[in-house]
This record gives sequence, structure tokens and C-alpha cells, in this order.
Amino acid sequence: MQASTGVLVTFEGIEGSGKSTQIELTRAYMEQKGYSCLATREPGGTPLGEGIRNFLLGQEELRIDPVTELFLIEADRTQHVAEIIKPALEEGRTILCDRYTDATIAYQGYGRGMDRALIEAMNRWATDGLIPQYTILLDCSVEIGMGRAQGEDRFERESHNFHQRVREGYLRIAQQDPQRVKTVSGEGEPMAIQDNIQRILRPLLDRR
Ligand code: TMP
Repeated sequence: MQASTGVLVTFEGIEGSGKSTQIELTRAYMEQKGYSCLATREPGGTPLGEGIRNFLLGQEELRIDPVTELFLIEADRTQHVAEIIKPALEEGRTILCDRYTDATIAYQGYGRGMDRALIEAMNRWATDGLIPQYTILLDCSVEIGMGRAQGEDRFERESHNFHQRVREGYLRIAQQDPQRVKTVSGEGEPMAIQDNIQRILRPLLDRR
């Protein structure tokens, strides 16, 4: 399903990879180029999703089974695509989304060890087959990422090995889909990283 006129760009990476900063800088760049831009996120891009995000990230004592976690993430995504992403694409907007389907393959697949084919099927179902035009993977070492992260939510408190598996998962996804997923080092200065992102996105904007 790619019938709409807008563009979906997703940002991925481990904790502390600098996604939020880069999404803000990218939004400013796009708006300055005259594009109507929407920055959103998963989980938590809708009112329902905010509630799901609080369950997933918040409560330390809350025991969440990995399968329950997967359903909550896909429920958040289903609502987000239907309520926010598709309508914005139909209006011709550029959407910058902080995490999307690759996060589930990296975190629940590589991190938690859940079946990748199953996750891919759920991702297709939740998104109605909507694939981003570009995915920016901000790659950095677990040491650097965890040094920047607050270390407070359920995922940030996972082990070093968990985050290492997530990072390797993301790199594997990028290797398998190089046309869509562009890996950018997230270890340098924010403006230097942003220059690399703009270089990647420029052809996409020039085509419109
Ligand atoms: P963030 O918005 O700070 O990146 O936090 C979102 C957290 O949710 C992050 O730790 C990763 C986790 N997450 C998954 O485990 N799977 C997913 O599919 C998504 C979208 C997020």
C-alpha cells in the first residue's frame, strides 16, 4: 500500500542513539524547505498509544509477558497508522516517525528472541503493508548509547547483552534492506550527524 502522496521516514536506533535530537533537526530542515512535516512516535503517537506507552515503559513492578508486550506494541502501531500516519500521508505530509516496524524486529525479535516471521506478519497486519520510503538507522555503541540514556524505563534497564542484540539486529536489518535502511553513525556531533541525514533525504525531497 503506497498510493498516498506523502512521505514516511522512520528513525531507529538503540537507547541513547540521538533519535529525538535528529528528528527535531530534520523537522526544522524540512519545514525550512517548505514541507509540511509531522513528527510522531511509537509507542505513544495517539491518545490510546500514550496509555500503552505508559504500561510498556513506566511501571517497574508491572510484569509484562513478552507476548503481551508484542501485542501491546502492535496494538499501538495499528491505531497510530490508522489514526495519524495514513491520514497525514493522504494530505501529502512528510512524516518523521520515531521508531516503527524495525524496532519490533530488533527489540522483540533479536532482543527478546521472538520469531521474526511472526513479527513480520504482525507488522504487515498492523500497518496494512505500509513501508517507509526511508529509514534512518542511527548506530552507536551500547556504551555510548547507555551513557546518554536516562536508564529509567523498562527497556533501558535491560542488560548490556540485550542492547547488544538489539544493535546487531538493527545492523542485520540494514544489511538485508539497503535500499530503504540507511545507517548513519550516531556517535559524532549532532550537526555533523544531521548533515549526513540531510544528504540521504535530499534526493527524496528533490523528487517531489
Ligand atoms: P523511546 O521512545 O525512548 O525510544 O522508547 C521506546 C521504547 O519502546 C524503546 O525502549 C524500545 C521499545 N520498543 C520496542 O521494544 N519495540 C517496538 O516495536 C517499539 C516501537 C518500541
